[in-house]
Amino acid sequence: MGLLCLLSHPIWFLCFLVLAVVLRMQRKGRWDPKKCRIDLTGKTAIVTGANTGIGKCVAMDFARRNGRVILACRSRERGQKALEDIQRETGNQKVFLEILDTSSMASVRAFADRILRNEKKVDILVNNAGASGMPFSITSEGLEVTYATNHLGPFLLTNLLVDLMKRSAPSRIIFLGSFMHNRGYIDTTHLYGKNLEKMKFNDAYNCTKLMNTICAKELAERLKGTGVTVNSVNPGIVMTDAMRYYSFLFRAIFNVIGFFFFKTAEEGAVSTIFSAVSEEAEGVTGKYIDSDCLIELPSENSRDPAVNKKLWEASEAATNLTGAPGK
Ligand SMILES: *[C@@H]1O[C@H](CO)[C@@H](O)[C@H](O)[C@H]1NC(C)=O
Ligand SMILES: *[C@@H]1O[C@H](CO)[C@@H](O)[C@H](O)[C@H]1NC(C)=O
Repeated sequence: MGLLCLLSHPIWFLCFLVLAVVLRMQRKGRWDPKKCRIDLTGKTAIVTGANTGIGKCVAMDFARRNGRVILACRSRERGQKALEDIQRETGNQKVFLEILDTSSMASVRAFADRILRNEKKVDILVNNAGASGMPFSITSEGLEVTYATNHLGPFLLTNLLVDLMKRSAPSRIIFLGSFMHNRGYIDTTHLYGKNLEKMKFNDAYNCTKLMNTICAKELAERLKGTGVTVNSVNPGIVMTDAMRYYSFLFRAIFNVIGFFFFKTAEEGAVSTIFSAVSEEAEGVTGKYIDSDCLIELPSENSRDPAVNKKLWEASEAATNLTGAPGK
């Protein structure tokens, strides 16, 4: 409040603005992808939700490193546009578009079938696609849409590709988590849209981000010794299209504050790129990589083996998955 009073005088407000802009321009991360010389020639990477935001920046980086990059997007039109942007900007023609809607398990299965048919290997899988603030609803497959989009889709996709990734080892799987994951909790009936009445605004998002972190941790355990590493990353607070379901006013305010204090999509992509390509992250598995690329343990609420096993089994049941890697 004191700060607000101070800022109400135009001079102080101006000083504050100048300071904020200066801080903004000087902000620099601990790890700089531009200084990392790793080349991805001969490697194949899949990035979901690659048409915009962090996903597009990650795909752009992989394309710059000469990787074969598959953009997995929901909309053919927006995906095609991203593909053209990436090809034009990087000169890499080995960038491809495949349609994937992670809210639909049928779409995930069809996508995975095409990948398994057409690709000899997959070295990097980035589970980036996700949304927040969506109204609760049940999909035609009987699943709650936020839980399907953010957790069950990526869960099923990863499991369907895991054998190919084992054959491609060393390979890396990345789940986009969020610092909000430590605020979530696990109730497996949520997957079917049950017991959501007491949920407040955005709670479902926190919970699905916790599920992503758990999924990464649990899969890392199951894949120990296979050469496939699995981590969750925190992109930081980023201004992205994941907010498209919020009201105009909310987004407007968020964007103004965000200009000074939040990361751009490009900055938000750094921890994901670090996890996917850096030498430092080689062999690292079951960890949580924070927005400044520090390798940490995931929060305590994602390390309870009993809860994690329960979520894993409930997710297998909800997606009709059989033959996932056991323990
Ligand atoms: C989700 O995170 C938001 C923002 O940090 C918080 O307001 C909300 O209470 C959280 N919900 C749960 C269930 O932890
Ligand atoms: C799982 O199988 C059941 C029974 O065949 C079906 O009703 C349901 O829609 C399937 N769920 C998914 C996500 O495919």
